[in-house]
Amino acid sequence: MNRPHIHMTALRNWINDPNGFIYYKEEYHLFYQYFPYDTQWGTMHWGHVTSKDLLHFTHHPIALYPSKEFDKNGCFSGTALIKDDELYLYYTGVKYLKTNEENIHKPEGDDGFEACQALIVSKDGYTFDNIHDKCRVVAPIEDLTLGHKTHTRDPKVWKYKDTYIMALGSKFKKTGAEDFVGEVLFYTSKDGKNWAYKNRSYNEKIGNMWECPDIFDVDGRHMFIMSPEQIMYDEKNYPSHAVYTLVEFDEETCTMHVPDTYQYIDLGLDIYAPQTTVDKDGNRILIGWMRMPKAFEHEEWIGMMTLPRVIHIQDENVMFSIPEYINNEFKKEISCDEFTLDKPVRMQASLTAQGSINIGGYKLYVEDDKLIADRSDVFVDCDIKAVHFETPKLHGQYDIDAYIDNGIIEVFVNKGKYVITNVVYGLQPIISYEHVENISLVEMNA
Ligand code: FRU
Repeated sequence: MNRPHIHMTALRNWINDPNGFIYYKEEYHLFYQYFPYDTQWGTMHWGHVTSKDLLHFTHHPIALYPSKEFDKNGCFSGTALIKDDELYLYYTGVKYLKTNEENIHKPEGDDGFEACQALIVSKDGYTFDNIHDKCRVVAPIEDLTLGHKTHTRDPKVWKYKDTYIMALGSKFKKTGAEDFVGEVLFYTSKDGKNWAYKNRSYNEKIGNMWECPDIFDVDGRHMFIMSPEQIMYDEKNYPSHAVYTLVEFDEETCTMHVPDTYQYIDLGLDIYAPQTTVDKDGNRILIGWMRMPKAFEHEEWIGMMTLPRVIHIQDENVMFSIPEYINNEFKKEISCDEFTLDKPVRMQASLTAQGSINIGGYKLYVEDDKLIADRSDVFVDCDIKAVHFETPKLHGQYDIDAYIDNGIIEVFVNKGKYVITNVVYGLQPIISYEHVENISLVEMNA
């Protein structure tokens, strides 16, 4: 079996972004962009799983599907909000301007659709009446100096005092300008249903359309996450990547200053469109879509989610870690000889400056004070040629905490100051190493 054990995958067919991730009525609901008919992207639905522990997921029927004129070609990404004990799911409704005769599941051209923002209310998190309980809350934008009629999407909604705030990813053109500028648009509402434009924020130096914005406070700071399009001009890799930056954000006026500098959420560069929520313990946790260029051999599903990651800020550094309640499930100490891929394994180790570890063909080693990940032996021939990933210089400290599962390895470096997560193909059940101290392996009982 090639499926990961504890990383969420669809039973069949295509998934992309996590959607509506929330802890509601004592369980987690995780929705996801889903094309139920094939292992490639198409008309978007919201798939649905629930979980008590974020390790075991129960699959449910499709939650959102196209049912209205305004979302007849897809229910794009969005988020969840609990209001009056009900679950509010905000998403982007997509309507193609013209039918693509060759494939009705894709638009004709990049600008071949219009996008509105929509809401569906569920009283329990399981019943989604796509006919009666949906409404459009923000119409497609007609003014290009404000935002884009096609490329405005992915509502993130939260409550601030007695006001609801919605952040939308978009792009616009300055009057007379040639190029698009990526931006976040802020709308506000008193009741969660009637929304009015409030403010915007942009930075011309970062990408040209900002997908999946997420803004939240953590450890007394505001953090801004987004997935800007066209930020990497390396033909070997994806052009769009998930990034974060700490921002000054005034929630009263929705004024946000986005600095020029940003960090990748994950240096493995497979992750995209992550989304955060607050877990049952009050931690800010993030989950992201792992892009897979090809399905694994003999498998009919494609795309997976990362493990949840807790976000903290320490001395201006954003640190990521696996929640304690997941770490506690890794219980059985094993030796390297006992390593198989039959169960998820957590490996902790400290490398020396000459150190290297080979996890079933996935290599981690130190070079020039950086930690390098090399998946060249466990990857496939495809458009994505990126196989080497590296941290910045680490000043002599090379501690790793790696979560190894079928098809995916998540490596937290130096207490999570950096993370390298990669999709891997054909991992072998063998571990070897050199110049490594304090190696320990713990298996999950799952
Ligand atoms: C990000 C994204 C979102 C959009 C969705 C469509 O991967 O492009 O911006 O809502 O996927 O599936």
